[in-house]
Amino acid sequence: MLNGKRVTVFVTGGIAAYKSADLVRRFIKAGAEVRVAMTKSACEFIQPLTFQVLSKHNVLVDTFDEKDAEVVSHINLADWTELAVIAPATANIIAKMANGIADDVVSTTLLAITAPRLIVPAMNQHMLENPATQANISKLENFGYTVLEPDTGFLAEGYEGKGRMPEPESIVNSAQLLLIEKTTNLPLKGKKVLVSAGGTRERIDPVRYLTNESSGKMGHSIAEAARDLGAKVTLVTASKLEYPFGVETIPVSSAREMQEIIMKDFDTTDIVVMAAAVSDYRPKHQADHKIKKTEDDLQILLEENPDILATMGNQKNKQFLIGFAAETDRVEEYAKGKLIRKKADMIVANDVSKEHAGFNKDTNEVIIFQTNKNPIHIETKSKKEVAKDILLEAIKSIQQI
Ligand SMILES: Cc1cc2nc3c(=O)[nH]c(=O)nc-3n(C[C@H](O)[C@H](O)[C@H](O)COP(=O)(O)O)c2cc1C
Repeated sequence: MLNGKRVTVFVTGGIAAYKSADLVRRFIKAGAEVRVAMTKSACEFIQPLTFQVLSKHNVLVDTFDEKDAEVVSHINLADWTELAVIAPATANIIAKMANGIADDVVSTTLLAITAPRLIVPAMNQHMLENPATQANISKLENFGYTVLEPDTGFLAEGYEGKGRMPEPESIVNSAQLLLIEKTTNLPLKGKKVLVSAGGTRERIDPVRYLTNESSGKMGHSIAEAARDLGAKVTLVTASKLEYPFGVETIPVSSAREMQEIIMKDFDTTDIVVMAAAVSDYRPKHQADHKIKKTEDDLQILLEENPDILATMGNQKNKQFLIGFAAETDRVEEYAKGKLIRKKADMIVANDVSKEHAGFNKDTNEVIIFQTNKNPIHIETKSKKEVAKDILLEAIKSIQQI
């Protein structure tokens, strides 16, 4: 989402200004082109040179320091900007923005900007709670600007309180969500996507369970790709991976738990992607205490788990149903059989015996099977890229229905 985006970071005079250097670096790492403008007060906390080196561009500090006769620098910057991030945003700049004051390069440029604005307040708790600041924040929200909630924690003043600038990683995530929200032509805008991920765990006793090699990377990548394509995403995951930002994530453990959660949302969902490796069987009896070692062999009787994909196949009306098939041999035969048996609209097959594909890997190589369509081979690439290809293929098929 940030790749190639023109982002201006406005740094104002708060103690958190030092974190803005990391913020700029992260935007650049995410593929954005970054420019920086600073208030005079901000320069008391961090040198413009730091931002000049990081952004590889001159930093605007003075409205009247016009170096280029061809342009008016602050208007030029305002017109160039596709996303404005004010971080840290002092109580002062918040007040100025709320009241249309333009008396330095930051406030003047911000007044001339038409791009989305992400305001990141950071200040002492009492300054934040002051009714004037609260009224100004409400005013900015009513203007349609996005104002982030400050973190609570140890403040520079030496006590716990609310007012800390959120960590740069979380600001970059919020920036991406804002851009997704403001981009009207994303192909999954207005669609609800449900994704399952990870290997389910079937309890034997309180300390042991049956599971499989699935890491959840493919499912989590699909949830992220669906989010970036504009969908409202729910991820039902049995994986231990970090939750993706901007995705409603529901942790589950067993196949039955997964089914219960998924079926609750099924009716209102447009696309379901079953990327989870659901255990086919579970222990028939779950011991409520740790099973002790004995001289005899231990037998665990297994019973069949619900087939979530087939259940959805039988109940679907408008939903586009995508299943995964992880095979070690006869991939095409099994995948095509699964497509028909489960009444799915698409089966994504991967040969998990291949070096760059399948469980726990960061890359995947898959073949997409659909009824009445030729199989589509997606060569080895990152799971995030494979996820996007799968969803784009599904969108194409949905548009043809
Ligand atoms: C050590 C120090 C730390 C400060 N930290 C903050 C802060 O975190 N947030 C804030 O709103 N103001 C803070 N201020 C006050 C602002 O710097 C002051 O209001 C200034 O006028 C803001 O100017 P600017 O908005 O043009 O950058 C701090 C001041 C000092 C001296």
